[in-house]
Amino acid sequence: MEKNKAPVIIGCDHAAYPLKEIVKAYLIKQGIEVADAGTDKEDSVDYPDFAIKVAEALSKGNVERGILLCGTGIGMSMAANRFPGVRAALCNDLFSAGMSRRHNNANVLVMGGRVIGDVLALEIVKTWLETPFDGGRHQSRLEKFDQMGEK
Ligand code: RB5
Repeated sequence: MEKNKAPVIIGCDHAAYPLKEIVKAYLIKQGIEVADAGTDKEDSVDYPDFAIKVAEALSKGNVERGILLCGTGIGMSMAANRFPGVRAALCNDLFSAGMSRRHNNANVLVMGGRVIGDVLALEIVKTWLETPFDGGRHQSRLEKFDQMGEK
């Protein structure tokens, strides 16, 4: 399968800072350009501040792919999905990672640094980057997202 080498913006909070560094190093090794939105240490921060940085970049069309990491991945998912055009998928397993691309065309991968180990996280990233969107009936389903709130 052809690798997706599109640039990626990555952000995390303190709970997932070590995982962010591991994922970032992996992406760079794959030849993928990485924009690091922070945080850059393990001091306590508020995860929405970093979700906003990543989701805004996606929403404005500055970048096509993002990765967000926090303790569980839950807070980052909630925050990122408030932004138009952002489809953030919490994937702490390989099946969800593949399906989030095939059926949901997820443009932000979210993982929980306190939930999964580093090796699984990198497998998830690899799967997520390499799996294409199936399109077809899934595209028309996603288009319904844009109609929400218009009624
Ligand atoms: C931080 O303690 C924790 O709440 C955060 O990383 C995340 O799990 C929130 O959803």
